Amino acid sequence: MAGIIVIGAQWGDEGKGKVTDWLANEMDFVVRYQGGHNAGHTVVHDGKELRLHLLPSGVLYSNITSVIGNGLVVDPKALLDELSDLERAGVGRPKLVLSSNAHLIMPYHKMIDEATEVRLGKAKIGTTGRGIGPAYADKAARIGLRVQDLLDMKIFREKLATALDRKRADFDFYEIEEPGLDEIADEYAAYADKINGMIGDTEHLLNWALKEGKNVLFEGAQGTMLDLDHGTYPFVTSSSPTAGGACVGTGVSPLRIDRIIGIAKAYTTRVGYGPFPTEDTGESGETLQCVGAEFGTTTGRTRRCGWLDGVVLKYAVEINGMTEIALTKLDVLSPFSTVRICVGYEFGGEVFDHMPPHQTIFHKCTPVYEELSGWQVDLGGITKYSGLPEATRRYVERIEEIAGVPINLISVGPSRTQTIIK
Ligand code: GDP
Ligand code: IMO
Ligand code: MG
Repeated sequence: MAGIIVIGAQWGDEGKGKVTDWLANEMDFVVRYQGGHNAGHTVVHDGKELRLHLLPSGVLYSNITSVIGNGLVVDPKALLDELSDLERAGVGRPKLVLSSNAHLIMPYHKMIDEATEVRLGKAKIGTTGRGIGPAYADKAARIGLRVQDLLDMKIFREKLATALDRKRADFDFYEIEEPGLDEIADEYAAYADKINGMIGDTEHLLNWALKEGKNVLFEGAQGTMLDLDHGTYPFVTSSSPTAGGACVGTGVSPLRIDRIIGIAKAYTTRVGYGPFPTEDTGESGETLQCVGAEFGTTTGRTRRCGWLDGVVLKYAVEINGMTEIALTKLDVLSPFSTVRICVGYEFGGEVFDHMPPHQTIFHKCTPVYEELSGWQVDLGGITKYSGLPEATRRYVERIEEIAGVPINLISVGPSRTQTIIK
């Protein structure tokens, strides 16, 4: 048996899609456990680029069963559109099982997401506008509709009536016209016709698979610093991208997990608002943005860029119990004559080498950098660790020292072949 979790070690977009696709070669199941179509995971193979939002990144392998776990919030239209896109791209239909316990994103969730951001004004989060936060809020308030409700439209209508009743105050507050029950029920009944065949008991399926010795990869979306509990609240997403979320979001015991792989970009990016100590709004940040093509996979927004934050990485190792790191986009650092790693935060005459206890420090600190030699060599064609320039290896090994766990995989380009096993 092998249960492997892949999680983002930073603020998302670390290359989880690429690494998941690479590891999927040996997997029987690839499973999403939280989030929704706010995620954008890119897989590049044979010159073909796929951008996945709800579907797990194992879809290029026809033997793999893709699973959407109970911890997700699912927009049925987005799911059906993504499946059609996949067929258009010539990949075909994946074997897909959708948890009956996953929650549904309703049209009013998207409306409330957008209206909340407008209302927040300058304090907005910079959400993806997909209705993620409001859908999870209704789940916690116990007025969410679940995927299994699509199996009986009579029950669906009853639950929808209750939800609309309870949401009336929100519609008034945000000045949203109350959506019609019939309209929504008809729309979702049409989705149900197409989706009902995919609904299953994913909790039982995954526990059976692990007991049978199958290889199961749990693919996190977003990243540690966007975690609802452990991230930079309130500038976070509304789910648990961290390793613990994989168990809650699939119904699999922590005892079933063998490896926890943290995906860390060789530098840092963030899309959306919120604190980011190593953000570089000058020339270096611009170089990272251009060379790394740092545009959001889901929204197309420009990603904020900066140097690698060793304090964040150490925190992510701890919070997730990472057994190892996969370091991505190392090739993007090639233009620099020197590279930097943040090893502490200076605030009020004190230096913190771990996550400070008060977020104000995180907002206002000055990063303490260690500077290392750059390598100025194109890494894109290097396939062996020993083939990397000495300065590159020193950078990698310094990150290992700071993180306290090994880097087992290094990515030097978007394609599956641009991967080095250390
Ligand atoms: P995810 O959300 O963590 O799956 O990451 P995204 O797919 O949103 O963003 C990562 C981007 O970097 C995608 O465009 C990938 O194709 C690309 N990428 C992944 N690994 C590498 C790498 O090692 N080098 C370069 N240059 N690009 C990479
Ligand atoms: P992947 O899986 C990067 C960010 C949004 C916003 C915050 C809340 O591709 O790494 P939400 O719509 O979730 O309520 O937005 O979280 N965010 C991401 N940032 N990568 C992602 O996913 C993200 N998903 C959400 O930009 O700051
Ligand atoms: Mg992404």
